[in-house]
Amino acid sequence: SHPVVIAPSILSADFARLDAEIQRIPDADWIHVDVMDGHFVPNLTIGPPVAKAIKKVTDKPLDCHLMIEDPGRWVGDYVEAGATNVTFHVEATNDPVSIARKLRESGCGAGLTLKPGTSAENYLEMVSEFDLVLIMSVEPGFGGQSFMPDMLDKARAFRAEIDRLGLDTRLQIDGGISADTIAQAAAAGCDTYVAGSAVYGAEDPNEAVRTLRSLATS
Ligand code: DX5
Ligand code: ZN
Repeated sequence: SHPVVIAPSILSADFARLDAEIQRIPDADWIHVDVMDGHFVPNLTIGPPVAKAIKKVTDKPLDCHLMIEDPGRWVGDYVEAGATNVTFHVEATNDPVSIARKLRESGCGAGLTLKPGTSAENYLEMVSEFDLVLIMSVEPGFGGQSFMPDMLDKARAFRAEIDRLGLDTRLQIDGGISADTIAQAAAAGCDTYVAGSAVYGAEDPNEAVRTLRSLATS
């Protein structure tokens, strides 16, 4: 249905040279921005001022993944920073649908995401409220971890629901995506891929993006 999207995660880039690190991957479809607050996950990264600064140096969609507590309090700051999508964790809020509506009303895409230990069943019913569903295939917090193939059942469950309802919600996967794992995720119905170490750790990151795209498409 959708063209495949490859979203390199700047978590694996050199934070002292973000502009150059973004410019050197013209083949990227989206820029994936990992926001961590040191509470929801045991790591601390960047926030709205940095997202805003990135927006100024690229025309590519800004895909913000909030690994933070109380996301409803902060989503507006990412909309103001120029986010294209804001994805937040269901474990961090009691009312994901209200946050999604707030995002959509402000013209921003809404993304729902689940940690590996959270099952799909309570969230399938709300997919129509979202532009994107993100399946975490590692515990959120760090790049460079191993892909968890057990998460593909969750991807299949969301893919079935998205298709059953005839929605164009994107199905994204994040964590351990590489040339060795992306085809499995594609077979499970994903269409949007985050890759940190597999892109920024490659000798030629543009070639890495193209390889991932072709493996996800074939
Ligand atoms: C993990 C982040 C990911 C991470 C992916 O908490 O959400 O986006 O950067 O990195 P890799 O692709 O190296 O697993
Ligand atoms: Zn991420």
